[in-house]
Amino acid sequence: MLSLPKLLPAATLISLRNVSRPSTQTGGKSLPLARRIIADRSWNGKRYVSAYGYTQAKALVYSKYGEPKEVLRLHKHSISAPHGTQVNLRLLAAPLNPADINQIQGVYPSKPSLDTALGTPEPSAVAGNEGAFEVIATGSDVKTMSKGDWVIMKRTGQGTWRTHAQMDESKLIRVDDKSRLTPLQVGIVSVNPVTAYRMVKDFCDWDWLRSGEEWLVQNGANSGVGRAVIQLAREWNIKTLNVIRERSSPDDTDALKGNLLDLGATAVVTESELLSGNFRRVVHELTNKGREPIRLALNCVGGESASALAKVLAPESHLVTYGAMSKQPVVLPSGLLIFKNLVFDGFWVSKWGDKHTALKEDTIRDVFRLVRDGKFKDIPVQEIKWRSGTDGTDLVEAAQGTLRGFRPGKGIFIFEGDD
Ligand SMILES: NC(=O)c1ccc[n+]([C@@H]2O[C@H](COP(=O)([O-])OP(=O)(O)OC[C@H]3O[C@@H](n4cnc5c(N)ncnc54)[C@H](OP(=O)(O)O)[C@@H]3O)[C@@H](O)[C@H]2O)c1
Repeated sequence: MLSLPKLLPAATLISLRNVSRPSTQTGGKSLPLARRIIADRSWNGKRYVSAYGYTQAKALVYSKYGEPKEVLRLHKHSISAPHGTQVNLRLLAAPLNPADINQIQGVYPSKPSLDTALGTPEPSAVAGNEGAFEVIATGSDVKTMSKGDWVIMKRTGQGTWRTHAQMDESKLIRVDDKSRLTPLQVGIVSVNPVTAYRMVKDFCDWDWLRSGEEWLVQNGANSGVGRAVIQLAREWNIKTLNVIRERSSPDDTDALKGNLLDLGATAVVTESELLSGNFRRVVHELTNKGREPIRLALNCVGGESASALAKVLAPESHLVTYGAMSKQPVVLPSGLLIFKNLVFDGFWVSKWGDKHTALKEDTIRDVFRLVRDGKFKDIPVQEIKWRSGTDGTDLVEAAQGTLRGFRPGKGIFIFEGDD
């Protein structure tokens, strides 16, 4: 029998929404031997597998930290037929999140291990932390998934910016029912929506008797997390005061405000409105002359923006920091700690998810339920088509642009490969 290596290198101050709403509580052509190819048309496009069952794959890898354009490169390799509990996967969609870039830069706390498992010349890691994959083949001992199923990675740090992967069944979450779900919705569910969901649920003991009379405030409201917060809070009858950055023109700013109001935001203000001397009065009016408490603040930005959120919180409330987009530290007036007894927390979905695996899966199921019910809209995205001939430079360029602000949408790799 022929033995082959396992892996071959081959202008209004605020925009306000009608605040009254009903309560909706939770809940294979013949070719030279080594290049013999079989075409499998079981999914959109073509998958080419060699006569020995090797899938031709590509992955965006890095072997040292730095800017994506300096360190990311496209690596070709082959994946053997799965055996035992192995599952072979094909990428459907994988987002480019800010944390993915921070991880490549080496400034993110979790650093994937570098190895030569894919036949790279130097120990390397595959970039990307989440994405939707389709099962294309399973080993004989795989029990929970079969060809055609959609899966996501159980944990972050497994590397998702790749056309194909071979993973153990135990590292994957099978999407129970993929009906009425799109690759985009599945590919982005495990980071942003889960972060939003847990922060809103777990850091405030909402008084359901006062349903519809309590608020949360958040900056970075146009982010993937922010948009998820708006929609979940709307479903749970929590009012939201949302802070965005001004656009280049008032019309564009108003358009963004309108977009978030359409999603279910109760009110939307800009960063400069938040930082103006008038803001307390605005909040007073919004909150029924202060009778409706703002009980939770979600901080994606840091700096002055975070302090301003804290200042409008009701006593005993929590401010949860989950992002640092401005790269400015969170500075807090001591009085907020002494006299209002505010609590300042941080949240990291990767660590939370590793500890609460079952709850994470339940959270994902609940988000999918909302998506199927039309209650959780897609975020704006910029699709980056990844085909067999796509130049690695284009993919790396897309990654490099991720941290640029004022983007029309989050970058997402959509695999339309033909090999
Ligand atoms: N802790 C966790 O578990 C966790 C989980 C998910 C995300 N995050 C973090 O949350 C943040 C948002 O992530 P995402 O995936 O939701 O982001 P995203 O959808 O890619 O959006 C990025 C957002 O950051 C805003 N932004 C960029 N630079 C900024 C600046 N200098 N000042 C203020 N805002 C700025 C952008 O505002 P514009 O719309 O105005 O361009 C945009 O809304 C990131 O820091 C990410 O690392 C943390």
